Amino acid sequence: MQTVLTPSNSPLKGENNNNHPLPLREGWGGSFPILGKVLYGKYPLVYLDNAATTQKPRSVVEAMTDEYYNVNANVHRGVHFLSQQATELHEASRETVRRFLNARSTSEIVFTRGTTESINLVASCFGQAFMKEGDEVIISEMEHHSNIVSWQLLQARQGIRLRIVPITDDGRLRLDEYEKLFNERTRIVSLTHVSNVLGTINPVRDIVRIAHEHDVPVLIDGAQSTPHMKIDVQELDCDFFAFSGHKIYGPTGIGVLYGKEQWLDRIPPYMGGGEMIKTVSFDRTTFNDLLQVRGRHARLCGQHRPGQRPRLRLFHRLRCH
Ligand SMILES: Cc1ncc(COP(=O)(O)O)c(C=O)c1O
Repeated sequence: MQTVLTPSNSPLKGENNNNHPLPLREGWGGSFPILGKVLYGKYPLVYLDNAATTQKPRSVVEAMTDEYYNVNANVHRGVHFLSQQATELHEASRETVRRFLNARSTSEIVFTRGTTESINLVASCFGQAFMKEGDEVIISEMEHHSNIVSWQLLQARQGIRLRIVPITDDGRLRLDEYEKLFNERTRIVSLTHVSNVLGTINPVRDIVRIAHEHDVPVLIDGAQSTPHMKIDVQELDCDFFAFSGHKIYGPTGIGVLYGKEQWLDRIPPYMGGGEMIKTVSFDRTTFNDLLQVRGRHARLCGQHRPGQRPRLRLFHRLRCH
């Protein structure tokens, strides 16, 4: 009978098997210290779960450590040296992400905690501003739960309807059926770029073109496409694009929402607090300009900023190989 070794029945249970006898493997293995780990004293770690989360390269971990040791301060909040330096690095990260996506402007880049939060942000804020009872969102049968439940929450709050694009037996989106779902109540399309279950790469350009012919904006879930392909949001022409840091070698707990300015300018704040506020009294709060409102999202996860730039650099290097 085959025995499945697990951490709890391991013969090495309780031992520190991080002190492995094997040298770190060359190449990418050298950049990812965890790949030098040996399990149960003899099996070199092989990690194939990158679609769920990626391992963290040395450059990312070192950049985070360096941040805490050398730059740690609140961004956009202080006039002292460290705060200025942290703010500069923080905004430089926004420029790195802009280039990564080929967005037009850094004000189209909103930092979030991940794809899930990015999608929830759009469902919540776009829904509040532009959807009322009976209005419709188009999603598909191949969506990750993040892109289903966010809209179901809006359904429960505001009575919107979910319209579902079916897929073929071999796991492709039925574009003919997609087109038929549009009507005068369609307010937004929210579809995945690459399916986390099937691996299907959806024809985003066509999806967006068809939606725009009906004057409907499109949110693309890029959680599984950003690790594998060059993303150009201007070429895709999508209105929103969401992805997570932890799936592209970055830290857990940071993500991005790209949004065309014309939409970000028109949606209300997602959360309140921080320097998005101009004045607060118990009677009334006034907000800073919209750039500050967007910036607020960034500072929700500012502590994760340090890993971001190296992560993206590393991603570019990986793609070249
Ligand atoms: C297609 C897709 N969308 C969204 C998510 C959610 O990503 P996160 O948990 O980083 O928010 C995942 C995670 O596996 C995914 O594969």
